[in-house]
Amino acid sequence: MKSILYITANPKNEENSNSLTVGRCLVNAYLSLHPGAPVTEIDVFRLHIPLVDEHFLSARQKVSSGAEPEELLPAEKNITEQIHRLTAQFIDADVYIFAFPLWNLGVPPLLKAYVDTIKVARKTFRYTPDGPEGLLKNKVAVLIQSSGDVYSSGPLKEFEHGSRYLYSVLSFIGVERIETIYMEGMDRDTNKDAARGKKDRALNKAIEIARTLL
Ligand SMILES: Cc1cc2nc3c(=O)[nH]c(=O)nc-3n(C[C@H](O)[C@H](O)[C@H](O)COP(=O)(O)O)c2cc1C
Repeated sequence: MKSILYITANPKNEENSNSLTVGRCLVNAYLSLHPGAPVTEIDVFRLHIPLVDEHFLSARQKVSSGAEPEELLPAEKNITEQIHRLTAQFIDADVYIFAFPLWNLGVPPLLKAYVDTIKVARKTFRYTPDGPEGLLKNKVAVLIQSSGDVYSSGPLKEFEHGSRYLYSVLSFIGVERIETIYMEGMDRDTNKDAARGKKDRALNKAIEIARTLL
């Protein structure tokens, strides 16, 4: 049985959010097929996500110069432990489900802060003479993104840096299987039925993907 890490980045309530509704559908579909499977939820808007700050950077500098953890100042130790806890939690999971809206062409800021805790040299990737190598093997990620406009084709094709950014980060750290569920043009449709149809298709895709997460 796979352990799931469900990461949400949306201050809205689930019932008002396309991405959160589809994310919950996927988690529930998985749980109905695998009752009791371990699911951990991280809501980056409600859980405190530590930021990479001056204490974290000075701690990193000291450790790479050979300092022992007990030589770190309390603030350095504290932020390092908080960030490393999130890194370890990420490494431990088998399946990552991310649900988020596109905000200003990128991911919501707290999701970026979370990414800074999981893309960590020597833990989730390493540098080799041939370049960086991802260390997370046999993992699956599902990206669920809702956006007001359309980016898969048309004039905005090169403007989308939300799911594309997350896709790059996950590939970089070694995740080979990345499924995507994109709802696009959700604020564009004057016809409410069109947006509802896109959401229904996304819900069906979530159920299909849940079946493949063995
Ligand atoms: C702060 C903010 C910024 C947004 N920026 C964009 C954007 O750059 N491009 C876009 O297509 N939609 C943008 N939107 C619209 C949302 O992506 C869209 O409404 C989406 O469907 C919301 O998903 P949700 O229902 O899961 O919250 C923005 C919305 C907000 C609140």
